Amino acid sequence: MKRIKCYENSYQPLDEELDRDLSFIKIIDVGRRYLVNRVQDHIQSRIVYYLMNIHITPRSIYLCRHGESDLNIKGRIGGDSGLSARGKEFAKALGQFIQSQNIHDLKVWTSQMKRTIQTAEAVGVPYEQWKALNEIDAGVCEELMYEEIQQKYPLEFALRDQDKYRYRYPKGESYEDLVQRLEPVIMELERQENVLVICHQAVMRCLLAYFLDKTAEELPYLKCPLHAVLKLTPVAYGCKVESVCLNVDAVNTHRDRPSNVDVSRLPEEALLTVPDHH
Ligand code: F6P
Repeated sequence: MKRIKCYENSYQPLDEELDRDLSFIKIIDVGRRYLVNRVQDHIQSRIVYYLMNIHITPRSIYLCRHGESDLNIKGRIGGDSGLSARGKEFAKALGQFIQSQNIHDLKVWTSQMKRTIQTAEAVGVPYEQWKALNEIDAGVCEELMYEEIQQKYPLEFALRDQDKYRYRYPKGESYEDLVQRLEPVIMELERQENVLVICHQAVMRCLLAYFLDKTAEELPYLKCPLHAVLKLTPVAYGCKVESVCLNVDAVNTHRDRPSNVDVSRLPEEALLTVPDHH
């Protein structure tokens, strides 16, 4: 109340009559009432929709990837493989972790891919599948190793390193496309209370970037390792992040941006940051 008193010294209230020609939304007592005046264009109506969907009820969002998959072990991107033995172990550990957290009315969301569904099955709670949570579509590069992409499509590989956020795989998607595809998921996450999202590396990066306010340049390089859970708890002006490692080994699937991103670089330079795999 003291803080509101301070605001009153310098702020000027909108008057429903005097300011009737202005575009504004007045939110009374965090959503008890909304007064929407002269909403004129697309962006304004999107903002109103957004503001009507957010809430301040304390809750946490748990983000993780599926357990390690057979294709992860082989260093191949995309595809729709099942979990490896260690992946199944992680799924079990995730179930135990979720139980230990004693979360009120937890919703569990997965993509429509085998590996996230298998992970949720082992958690042993009802879950909802979202097609929008499917992993980035790597188009002609699906199921290839980074080494094979470099060999078959060296130009594409370099272009992706030059602008990973905007680069779109031939016949596939970019991170920018993914961000658009995830908008309904993000809106629904805002409306919900406790949610566990079991998703994929690129998808988790996009969700994390939204909650942590990361830039388009940082987003595709955010570290989202397999077998770790991020617990996000909204606090005033941001999100508290806790990382929980469930102590089940997994391959590393993170490839950093190499220092040389020129199309004329040598294959060795392009492959410098590819993570180890079988
Ligand atoms: O390697 C696992 C994976 O989820 C792939 O399916 C996907 O193409 C990739 O990660 C996304 O990560 P990056 O954008 O760094 O290649």
